[in-house]
Amino acid sequence: MSEVYLNGEFMPLAEARVPVMDRGFLFGDGVYEVIPVYGGYPFRLSQHLERLDRSLQSVRMENPLQPDAWERIFARLIGSASDLDQLIYLQVTRGVDRTRNHLFPQGVEPTVLVMAWALGPRDPAISGTGVAAVVLEDNRWHRCDIKAIALLGNLLLRQEAEDAAATEAILVRDGLVTEGSSTNPFIVQGGEILTPPPSTRLLRGVTRDLVLELARGADLPCAERHITRDELETADELWICSSSRELQPVTRLDGKPVGEGVPGPRWRQLDDLFQDYKARLDSWGKRV
Ligand SMILES: Cc1ncc(COP(=O)(O)O)c(C=O)c1O
Repeated sequence: MSEVYLNGEFMPLAEARVPVMDRGFLFGDGVYEVIPVYGGYPFRLSQHLERLDRSLQSVRMENPLQPDAWERIFARLIGSASDLDQLIYLQVTRGVDRTRNHLFPQGVEPTVLVMAWALGPRDPAISGTGVAAVVLEDNRWHRCDIKAIALLGNLLLRQEAEDAAATEAILVRDGLVTEGSSTNPFIVQGGEILTPPPSTRLLRGVTRDLVLELARGADLPCAERHITRDELETADELWICSSSRELQPVTRLDGKPVGEGVPGPRWRQLDDLFQDYKARLDSWGKRV
């Protein structure tokens, strides 16, 4: 990462500083986005910027920049690194207040930070053998639809998964699957692809929406509907997806094999469609 954008300026990462009175630091009072970059172009950019708008609106903040201003920042950061595949991280906090006060300050400029780093190649072991996950109780707040920087709930769950030698925690609230600690899950049951419907209990992933779009485009049976813990545990296939992980097959859940215990045929089909979709974008004028 050669440089970052902070409040209107580009600078080396080591020089980027935020005052301790920043509400992001004191309260986790801000929102963020993670946008993949393939072949040098942001992927599903308008969907990410729309979600940023929704997150900002939900926390009663204005978007500090117009879409073209965001794009110019992204283009410069992408261009300053040699890697064609990257991840853009952007964060907007409510800004720097004079005192530590729970109430929202008036007339304060938001703090805007954008960074980009290389997105390494896919680990072939993931498509070969899949990954392990555990099921955990979703004990986070009830506005998981907001991409808030206050991620302690998610971090505790992810660490618990890691401690159990698993790569992700699949979360269950009131007996129903919500999402992963930083991914959206899909199950396959009798050939049908299922994922929980959007609600305040989960972050509506841009990758999740694309998976549904690709499945529908290929006439594969799929539905957004509630998934019970029992359905999760007896699924033929289970996958997780996100901007940084793409689509990963989960082949062990709580130490037991999922289906046959190997990446399933529906996952392969969707992963192929996803990889094709990424590759096809090369021939488009503006790739978003
Ligand atoms: C809690 C949570 N759910 C789902 C996702 C997947 O979202 P996306 O596909 O937009 O990356 C993420 C991504 O970070 C996440 O943190």
